[in-house]
Amino acid sequence: MTQQEVIISKNLEQSLTAAIGKCPHDRLFVLTDTTTLELCWPKVHQFECLKGSTMITIGATDEHKTLDTLATVWTALQKGGATRHSLMVNLGGGMVTDLGGFAASTFKRGIRYINIPTTLLSMVDASVGGKTGINFGGLKNEIGVFNCASSVILDTEFLRTLDHQNICSGYAEMLKHGLISNIQNWAELINFDLDHIDYTHLQDMVAKSVAIKEEIVEKDPTEKGIRKALNLGHTVGHALESLALEENRTVLHGYAVAWGLVSELYLSAKRMNFPKDKLQQTIQFIRENYGTFVFDCKEYDRLFDFMTHDKKNEAGIINFTLLGDIGDIRINQSANKEEIADMLDFYRESMGS
Ligand code: GLY
Repeated sequence: MTQQEVIISKNLEQSLTAAIGKCPHDRLFVLTDTTTLELCWPKVHQFECLKGSTMITIGATDEHKTLDTLATVWTALQKGGATRHSLMVNLGGGMVTDLGGFAASTFKRGIRYINIPTTLLSMVDASVGGKTGINFGGLKNEIGVFNCASSVILDTEFLRTLDHQNICSGYAEMLKHGLISNIQNWAELINFDLDHIDYTHLQDMVAKSVAIKEEIVEKDPTEKGIRKALNLGHTVGHALESLALEENRTVLHGYAVAWGLVSELYLSAKRMNFPKDKLQQTIQFIRENYGTFVFDCKEYDRLFDFMTHDKKNEAGIINFTLLGDIGDIRINQSANKEEIADMLDFYRESMGS
């Protein structure tokens, strides 16, 4: 997997012109979803560097992250005369950058692509690090490849029009980056006021957050070791998301990750002596900003099943990333059914679920 360039842009047109200039191509395609077509495309469509490009638009939200949608993108590329020397620009949130990245990575065995993430979640996580894919068989991101974008251009101006829930969703991944890095980053994150956002401060924190992810991905691009640190909160988070999907409840990814962090920090405290005061402070921040996901003990088996099917597991053992303290990462930690039930009990008691 070649390394990608992550650009914190102050001038999107200049940054995109430079990024496209680094990828000589015959035809240029721009992928949006119906939301970014309406809200973000108008901010870029007059750019000289996008002149003559072919637009491809897909349905918005995770329910469209499917094989059918992927096929419509491949078809549009084929009909638009794409060759192996074509280039695709993905303009959107994590769904667009994941699916678009996968479409580009597989079309004619791979064409180059550039990501312009437009949500906080895709800026700090999805668009960076080369994970691409679609949902399949009821499981999230089940099919995909590791293949980095040539460039990822972060323009935090897009955040000014992003709704509060989507800000909170992306912020959960930033909180995770704080927890796996150092106490200063973590303290800055849990003291930030998400109800009255200081966008200049947020921009600084986004840059720090992406740098934390990039450093980890650079060491371990295909998640054989330390990249598993980025899975903190995700073993439980993905199970909650899958349960929500099955029960037709809407849950944004970052909210599930935030609730997953509560659970997995508890397991960290129990197994690795993660400090109780930092556990409580993190829980308080999450409770105040994310509310709770309600479930009862009859759903534990189902959650356990989802955790068992998580693609991060090896040999059927449920795998967690835990912390001994902030920045003290312990990957490949397993837990049995009893410990998982105890963790879910703690979640429900502390979050009022
Ligand atoms: N979202 C976690 C990772 O990119 O590895």
